[in-house]
Amino acid sequence: MLIIHKAAELQKKPKSRKTSLGLVPTMGALHAGHLSLIERAVEENSSVVVSIYVNPTQFNRNEDLENYPKNLEEDLEMLKPFSKQLILYVPNHDDLYPEGIQSKHYDFGSLSQFMEGDARPGHFDGVATIVEALFQNINPDKAYFGEKDFQQLQIIKALNETLNLEIEIVSCPLLRSEDGLALSSRNRLMSDQLRSDSKIIYQTLNYIVEEASDWSVSQMEVYFKSKIAEKDNFKVDYFCVADPNDLIPITHLDSRKNYRIFVALYAGKTRLIDTIELARK
Ligand code: PAJ
Repeated sequence: MLIIHKAAELQKKPKSRKTSLGLVPTMGALHAGHLSLIERAVEENSSVVVSIYVNPTQFNRNEDLENYPKNLEEDLEMLKPFSKQLILYVPNHDDLYPEGIQSKHYDFGSLSQFMEGDARPGHFDGVATIVEALFQNINPDKAYFGEKDFQQLQIIKALNETLNLEIEIVSCPLLRSEDGLALSSRNRLMSDQLRSDSKIIYQTLNYIVEEASDWSVSQMEVYFKSKIAEKDNFKVDYFCVADPNDLIPITHLDSRKNYRIFVALYAGKTRLIDTIELARK
């Protein structure tokens, strides 16, 4: 597999109809969720760049950045089946932050105001800064992002509109483990007990969507929090129901509309997020 540390090492070709370059940005500690994006990118493009870069500016707590799992050896092993089709971009800080490691400031309106935007100040400025740098450096035809981070995905779509680089943003479905937990690099930070208890998150979300979609938002929230409280060392950060387009949390459901549930919680010290569609039946 070709590994590059500077985007300038990529042979830049002008965009053409015959070839297509895909980009899958990641922070490494790869799992099957990442691989599903990579598989799709490999199917849909003549070449694919996977980037691995733990972006310091999107972490609002130093401790979280320090504890973020990093293991390039294991990542390389997971990418082996695709090695012929992939270019792995492991940038130096300088390549993405030539003027020093700091975020730019963006205005994404309501998209960045609630949920992760509210709980992690500066987080989306950091994400947008690095994704903009990746888009400028690589200039792909298509870039792949997961619905696991639904708010991030909507923000990147908005960012992409302003950049005018003619990149197609491809949204990919959230992948779960067998017991329903949304796959995440952070899952490996949990103890066995927390990992096993964390299946309550999807079980409860699924119950709400399947059995209780006519409840009020506050009934849903009370139920979610009560189920999570049954597990030791779990703490809900937020439970929101929001319109998937503007991401503004609502308190009253309109039966003609579809929504999405967004949750964040702590399992011990590990912060987990999840999201699920709340379609009206
Ligand atoms: P990271 O958390 O490594 O995720 C990289 C990509 O994989 C994101 O688009 C994310 O939504 C997707 N992903 C993660 N878990 C997934 C799952 N269970 N199912 C489907 N897709 C999943 O998100 C980031 O990195 C960073 O913020 C980044 C965009 C790379 C900018 O630094």
